[in-house]
Amino acid sequence: MATTASKLPSPARHDSLGIPMHAPGSRLSKATNKYKDTHPVPEKPHVGPDIEAYKSAHSKTVGPHSDAWWAQQARENLSWTRDFTTVRTGGFPTAEELKEGQDPSTLPITWFPDGNLNACYNCVDRHAFQNPDKTAIIYEADEPGEHKYISYGMLLNEVCRVANVLKGMGVKKGDTVTIYLPMTWQAAAAFLACARIGAIHSAVFAGFSSESLRDRIIDCGSTVLITADEGRRGGRSVATKVIADQALKECGDANPVKHVLVLSRTGSKTVAEQHFTPGRDVWWHEAIADVPAYCPPAEVNSEDGLFILYTSGSTGKPKGILHTTGGYLLGALLTVKYVFDVHPGDKFACMADIGWITGHTYIIYGPLALGTTTTFFESTPVYPSPSRYWETVSKHGLTQFYSSPTAVRLLRKLGHQHVQDHDLSSLRVLGSVGEPINPEAWNWYSEHVGKGECAVVDTFWQTETGSIVVTPLPGAIETKPGSATVPFFGIETQVLDSMTGKPQEGENVEGVLCIKNPWPSIARTIWGDHKRYIDTYLRPYPGYYFTGDGAARDEHGYIWIKGRVDDVINVSGHRMSTAEVESALLLHNGVAETAVIGTPDEMTGQAVNAFVTMKPEFTYDSEPALAKELVLQVRKIIGPFAAPKKIFIVGDLPKTRSGKIIRRILRKIVAGEGDQLGDLSTVAEPEVVEVIKKKVAESA
Ligand code: WTA
Repeated sequence: MATTASKLPSPARHDSLGIPMHAPGSRLSKATNKYKDTHPVPEKPHVGPDIEAYKSAHSKTVGPHSDAWWAQQARENLSWTRDFTTVRTGGFPTAEELKEGQDPSTLPITWFPDGNLNACYNCVDRHAFQNPDKTAIIYEADEPGEHKYISYGMLLNEVCRVANVLKGMGVKKGDTVTIYLPMTWQAAAAFLACARIGAIHSAVFAGFSSESLRDRIIDCGSTVLITADEGRRGGRSVATKVIADQALKECGDANPVKHVLVLSRTGSKTVAEQHFTPGRDVWWHEAIADVPAYCPPAEVNSEDGLFILYTSGSTGKPKGILHTTGGYLLGALLTVKYVFDVHPGDKFACMADIGWITGHTYIIYGPLALGTTTTFFESTPVYPSPSRYWETVSKHGLTQFYSSPTAVRLLRKLGHQHVQDHDLSSLRVLGSVGEPINPEAWNWYSEHVGKGECAVVDTFWQTETGSIVVTPLPGAIETKPGSATVPFFGIETQVLDSMTGKPQEGENVEGVLCIKNPWPSIARTIWGDHKRYIDTYLRPYPGYYFTGDGAARDEHGYIWIKGRVDDVINVSGHRMSTAEVESALLLHNGVAETAVIGTPDEMTGQAVNAFVTMKPEFTYDSEPALAKELVLQVRKIIGPFAAPKKIFIVGDLPKTRSGKIIRRILRKIVAGEGDQLGDLSTVAEPEVVEVIKKKVAESA
């Protein structure tokens, strides 16, 4: 069984949990499992040797100990230019405090509010001073063989120059900068350059359409856009600059952008000759050559905005989630350290895209704040072959590998022959995020990638939580495939009865997943709409933060995430609202009404299915051609990842007498439960249901 922390060979120092910080990491011991179906834990981890050690450590980080613990972690792990005297203000409002009429701005949550620090200094300078040649970023470019190692010294130079360019463009502390970049390493320099001068970045996933980019630029009012000539993915070029130009054009009079900084990723001649607007557009490489090599980091308040990231909620308009500096950075750093058991010398790899929260926290801020080596993976898991991930792991000697259930399911389906011939012995921790992972995929990941010797961490969190909130800790928590297991340090989860809002006590309970007290990396607001923040997260269950997910807690206290209980669809870990897809379809001139639902999908977790009725005057040649046109419509308005898998063109939709579409019925029919619809007395015209059943059956 695992060695206890105290028996380790004289560690250099201990942190506030009494956990040795410089012990080397290790793979799993072949220990006997305590619970049936659980998996063992590694030796010499940060936390261990078992769940009792976790419980004891966790109990010192919550309740009355919470603020003191976070304060100690903040001081131990981050470099402050002014120490804080207050740890936290605010909390989740009670029912009384939430009464209508109360100004929600009187209830802010802050962490370390009078402390000052700079996120970029914490992620770059302090490590560059200590070890300028250490690799900060492994950039694995789309084409195999085209990789680069960027040292902390090189990163500091690039960041400073970009920061000076932004300053020259008039960007000031508190201003927003939109970043629309592919997965090239310079994206880290763009993010951190904003942080360096106290500007708030708003990164938009490079797979979003010009319409989505336009809306996000207008919503946060950026005067500068940072983009690239083209992206590269899976051997193909993506017309990044053309889309960005289109977005700016579509902003019309509302266009706030004055300057566009363009990275030459591919050196595209077409972009240089035809899609470059002199005066407004500036080449990255030319601009950085013209400015000083050093830019002092701005002194930023802990509660100043670090970034905005748009995410989907129950309604059509995406929400600009705002994260602030000190608390977010602390959550990102600590979760990298403990959840992935990161030790000095490790090479951490998160395969997400920097356009989503996972990329923000686990490609950029978390690993770099900790001073570890991080990986920018530009390609896809199957380019040029399904061995790409494993070639990348063995080539660079990666120690932690963080991916998604969809990627694991895909690679499992393609066969383990693609994994077996690669040396994966450097790996110690395998992570999963974004959607529930089914036990088959979990076991394949553990056995074929981890060879039974890696800890598998199924990590639950959200754009809004900033960093992981429910997860196993390698070394302490024996895992059960399919369960995200236990709350992270400082996090108190609660499964509430969805109807009464009361905590579900005891074993084997189910309800909605909520969190009891604020933690440092919780989102502070929705950009420009604090009321919506309160209404979405804090009003549904007074006194708690509401995740929007259903969850069960088993007899060992382990949490099993059941998926969203609201109108959010999760396709391959990409989050979108049914309303967003519906709005995109309604922009088609022939569409009268539409109802979008998420349906279970073996590969992508969920898939988008859309029911559409057409305007009586609208004529079309064939249903398949029209369905194709409608799919294109969604790709164009939102982006390719939101494309409906199936479109059903129908005469009418099931509605209540007051005209509300009953999506529950549509969900059941598509799930093959059309004969178990239950009471249909609320349906205004029950014959509509029969027609839809027939239509769905025909398409199967
Ligand atoms: C889902 C991604 C099950 C969940 C970091 C959540 C998960 C939404 C898991 C957030 C997991 C994330 N198991 N479901 N381990 N991780 N989810 O904001 O529904 O893109 O609410 O953040 O993804 O998606 P977001």
